[in-house]
Amino acid sequence: MPAIVVVGAQWGDEGKGRVVDDLAQDAHMVARYNGGDNAGHTVVAMGHTLRLHLVPSGILHPHTVCLIGAGVVINPTQLVAELDQLAALGVDVGPERVKLAAAAHVILPTHRALDGAREAARGREAIGTTRRGIGPVYADKAARVGLRAGQMADPEAFGERVLALVQVHNRLLQEHYGLEPLPVGEIVAESVVLAQRLRSYLADGSELVARALAAGQVVLCEGAQGTLLDLDHGTYPYVTSSSCVAGGALTGLGFGPQAVARVVGVAKAYTTRVGAGPFPTELTDEVGDRIRQAGGEYGTTTGRPRRCGWLDFPILRYAAQVNGFTELALTKLDVLTGIHPLKVAVAYERDGERISRFPAEWGAEEVTRWQPVYEEVPGWDEDIRSARRWEDLPPAARAYVERVEEVVGVPVTLIGVGPEREAVILR
Ligand code: IMP
Repeated sequence: MPAIVVVGAQWGDEGKGRVVDDLAQDAHMVARYNGGDNAGHTVVAMGHTLRLHLVPSGILHPHTVCLIGAGVVINPTQLVAELDQLAALGVDVGPERVKLAAAAHVILPTHRALDGAREAARGREAIGTTRRGIGPVYADKAARVGLRAGQMADPEAFGERVLALVQVHNRLLQEHYGLEPLPVGEIVAESVVLAQRLRSYLADGSELVARALAAGQVVLCEGAQGTLLDLDHGTYPYVTSSSCVAGGALTGLGFGPQAVARVVGVAKAYTTRVGAGPFPTELTDEVGDRIRQAGGEYGTTTGRPRRCGWLDFPILRYAAQVNGFTELALTKLDVLTGIHPLKVAVAYERDGERISRFPAEWGAEEVTRWQPVYEEVPGWDEDIRSARRWEDLPPAARAYVERVEEVVGVPVTLIGVGPEREAVILR
């Protein structure tokens, strides 16, 4: 009864979607456990390129059931749009295949407005959020005033709850932020229609997972964002508002740890970050630009250029500690081709003191007090995009991967060498 958890090891955008796509071949259920439409992954289906934000990446594997778990927050307009897009391409997105956990929370337009207002109010300390209402909706959830997807089962009653919450939000927008209120009637009417549309997808997520596990099925738990964006274990306050780490799969889906057979950490062969906050190995020079160009490092959700930098070993070790990786997938190795020399951060230093750990738990400010210590490692010039076996990689590329394995202490079982679905080396 194995569950496999796929989790980002850095600041998100590590290529989890492609790893999930690969593992979904042998899975029965693909279950998203955290975040909302702040996440994004690109899938190519029937010759069309789709950007999905909520529907799990497994949707293109027709044998899977796709669950949006209790830990997820859903923007119903976005979810309906994705279901429509997929249906138009002939993908089965009926209620037998797509399930929405009743305990997932619902994002309203006023959550998005509040997200923007809070960001503007933070001024220079803005987090650089995706403005999808993520912080405000999780805040309402923790404050026990939020709306749960299950309430959509009765669309009219749901509309009344939406009305009450929108009025509270509007008061905040007006009185605290000096902004215009959003149109209540319109939002309520839309919410009722969306609830009518989505109610057939509602399910008891935890029970579905339990049944699948009891039947010996493989449940693939898909995380969004990454370890350093985790609300508890990331570079607070420059984080998202959900549990991105492996433990988030348990709370976000509702099952116990004994079912977890594998925890697959996904890391890029370098590091990227979107939004504000500390990023010690960031490259603001032409090497950073080169990585951004070669890696197509622009946000799937907001189109923002991603900040790019060297691989950071203390981060990977920290992520392995927090998540209990059993293995690692290393993506985008091809992007480093032709860069000489390559550097990797091996430790951190301040006033002559050296540490090998990443001090994320002490928060963003503490992280900025430390300087990365680099080591140079040999690069390679060979085009590795057509490599499909370990032996096809040049010695320097193999050494790079082996160094990661040694540092993190787990095997690298998947290596990404290009954007195409088949451009991977499986070990
Ligand atoms: P929020 O999740 O929109 O509140 O944004 C909080 C922080 O998380 C910002 O720095 C965002 O750029 C970052 N973030 C949120 N979702 C993603 C993602 O899917 N990939 C990378 N960064 C993300």
